Amino acid sequence: MSMNTELLGNLICPRTGECLCVAAGDSELSIPLRQQFGKLGAPTEVFTQWVFNKSGTFAYPVFKDVLILISDMAVAWPQKEFLSADSKGLSVNPFAFSGATNVCGNEECRRIFNFKTEQFCDHMPYTSQMVVEFMSADGNILDCLSLRDSCLRVAVDLDFWALFNGNTSGIHKVCADATIACFGPCSIDCAFSNSMHHIPTQSTRFYRDILVSLKSGGRFVGIETQGLLAKLALNMVLCMPRFAMPHSFRNIDDERNLLREWLRVPIEKRLTDAGIRSFDCNKTLFHTVYSFSKVQQKCLRSP
Ligand SMILES: C[S@@+](CC[C@H](N)C(=O)[O-])C[C@H]1O[C@@H](n2cnc3c(N)ncnc32)[C@H](O)[C@@H]1O
Repeated sequence: MSMNTELLGNLICPRTGECLCVAAGDSELSIPLRQQFGKLGAPTEVFTQWVFNKSGTFAYPVFKDVLILISDMAVAWPQKEFLSADSKGLSVNPFAFSGATNVCGNEECRRIFNFKTEQFCDHMPYTSQMVVEFMSADGNILDCLSLRDSCLRVAVDLDFWALFNGNTSGIHKVCADATIACFGPCSIDCAFSNSMHHIPTQSTRFYRDILVSLKSGGRFVGIETQGLLAKLALNMVLCMPRFAMPHSFRNIDDERNLLREWLRVPIEKRLTDAGIRSFDCNKTLFHTVYSFSKVQQKCLRSP
C-alpha cells in the first residue's frame, strides 16, 4: 500500500519542518542502505518506498505500510548517507521495541477498553477528516471509533513492531516520537491519546505542539489514569509483591515509574503550563477525561 498523499502533505520532516511527498523515480533501496536498516532490525524485505521532504534533501523509508519518520533515521539525499551509522549513535531505535499490542485478555481490561472508546467517541466530532492517535501502539482504539468512512485515521507510535503487526484495517501508520512535532500547522481535526503518562516530563511541549497542529476549532481529547483511586492503587502496587497483585493492577505495576512521575503534576497544571486556558476535565474515581479545542482563528499554512 503506498502512502496516502493527503497524509504526507500534512506530516512534516523532523529535520527541516517541510511537508512530505513521494518522489517519482529513485525509489530503489540501495544495498548499503538495506544493510544499515537491516542492522537495526528493520524488515528490509518489505521496504516499499521512500518519502521525501519537499526540497528532496532527506528521505524516510516505508516498511510495508509503516512510515519511519524519525530524525535519526533520515537518509540524506542524494548522497544516500544514512545519518546514524549504528544503533549506538541513535537516540531511539524503533525496531528494538517489543511490539506489545493492546490485547484485551480479561473482562476488566475489555471494560476499560470499552470505557475509553466510548469516551473518545463522545468527545470527538464525528465529521473529523483527520484523526490522529498519539502513542497508539497498534491503533486498536482508533480502529474502533465510529467516524466517517472518509476520515483519515493515523496511528503514531515509536514502537515499529506494534504498528507493523497490528491487526487493524484502514489505519495509516507513522512510526514517530510524539515529543517531536510530526504534523504541520493546522493539519489535524482531532487528536487523542490515553498514554500521555508515557511522556510525563514532556507533556508541556506536546500540548503546545498539538495546539499548533490542530486546525482552527480542532480538538484534543485525552484519558489518563488519574484521581484519588489511581493514586491509592499506585501506592498499594508500590508495596505489593507482583504475585499477590489483582490482575487489574498489573498494568499499573508495569508502568509504575511513569505513572508516579505523571501523577505528581495535575493535568490542569500541565495544560495551563502549555498555555491552554480553556479545557474540560471530567473525573471518575480512576480516570480523567479531558479535552481542549483550538480557538477559531485563521490558520496560516506555508505553501
Ligand atoms: C501502554 S501503550 C498504550 C497504547 C494505546 N494507547 C492503547 O491504549 O492501546 C503505550 C505506547 O506508547 C508508546 N510510546 C511511549 N513513548 C512514546 C513516544 N515518545 N512517542 C511515541 N510513542 C511512544 C509505546 O511505544 C507504547 O506503544
